[in-house]
Amino acid sequence: MDLTVTIGNGKLPNPVGVASGTFGYGSEYESLIELSKLGAIYSKAVTLEPRPGNDAPRLVETPSGMLNSIGLANVGVERFLTDKMPFLARQACAVVCNVAGSGEDDYLRVVERLETHPDIFGYEINVSCPNVKHGGLALGTDPVLVERLVRRVRGLTRRPVIVKLTPNVTDITVVARAAENGGGDAISCINSLVGMVIDVGARRPVLPAGCGGLSGPAIRPVGVALTYRVSRAVSIPVIGIGGIMSADDALQYLLAGASAVQIGCATFVDPSIPGRVLSGIADYMTREQIACVQDIRGLLQ
Ligand SMILES: Cc1cc2nc3c(=O)[nH]c(=O)nc-3n(C[C@H](O)[C@H](O)[C@H](O)COP(=O)(O)O)c2cc1C
Repeated sequence: MDLTVTIGNGKLPNPVGVASGTFGYGSEYESLIELSKLGAIYSKAVTLEPRPGNDAPRLVETPSGMLNSIGLANVGVERFLTDKMPFLARQACAVVCNVAGSGEDDYLRVVERLETHPDIFGYEINVSCPNVKHGGLALGTDPVLVERLVRRVRGLTRRPVIVKLTPNVTDITVVARAAENGGGDAISCINSLVGMVIDVGARRPVLPAGCGGLSGPAIRPVGVALTYRVSRAVSIPVIGIGGIMSADDALQYLLAGASAVQIGCATFVDPSIPGRVLSGIADYMTREQIACVQDIRGLLQ
């Protein structure tokens, strides 16, 4: 059975990864699951300087999901390289660094620094964070800016460049094509949707930042639909994200056109979900006599 997934000039061992920001820097989950079974760990966003993130509370539960407003809290690229990469480099799975910034130059400087480490598989360029004032949605909703940024990142690296898109646009295919034209090797689809929860008694939003990013099973049908549309608009692989809790959910994304998937806040409920999703996909392939996971993509009727 062939579970590998080709992204640019790299190969993931299997299609099931864990989504950025929901899995820390990997070591947090070491005692809970076998990290070697993952296809990839997508790191927490890495920025040029350390960021403390937004004020608490940063999370609030919603029907079938949650709203977060972390604000890209992270240790910054230098400490990522010295403190976090040694652990990640020892893992059998691919390490994809999620890169964020307040402007184009920030992204480029982070990638330049990460290029010095030999054990990074590739980059997931986060142009879709709903929880920051600069560099997030303002960048990711403008196809001209996305294409320019991706082209400049492309100029810095031969490693796979994956562009993570926001669903908070009128037509995601326009931005997806811009990422492909800029030289992106794959599209991650989707980041969280903008949402708000109001405390009626206090007459104010529960999150101090006002809005946050909605994730979890509530957004799965949106993620599947956008994966379907994006995979038909571009010829590079699409990595489906949003509300995956089971192998069946992941198979929806693969049938819709994804080459791989990421599991986000499901691991908050049960850290063993990525392993069970992978074995469920393998069971499905055995049952349906599919030798190669990439062949699932063409099977939607
Ligand atoms: C607490 C939290 C933090 C996140 N941080 C990041 C981040 O740093 N970079 C990023 O690209 N996406 C981030 N995301 C978005 C997830 O990677 C994912 O796209 C989203 O949660 C949808 O997947 P899910 O429904 O499986 O959680 C974060 C999500 C959550 C819940």
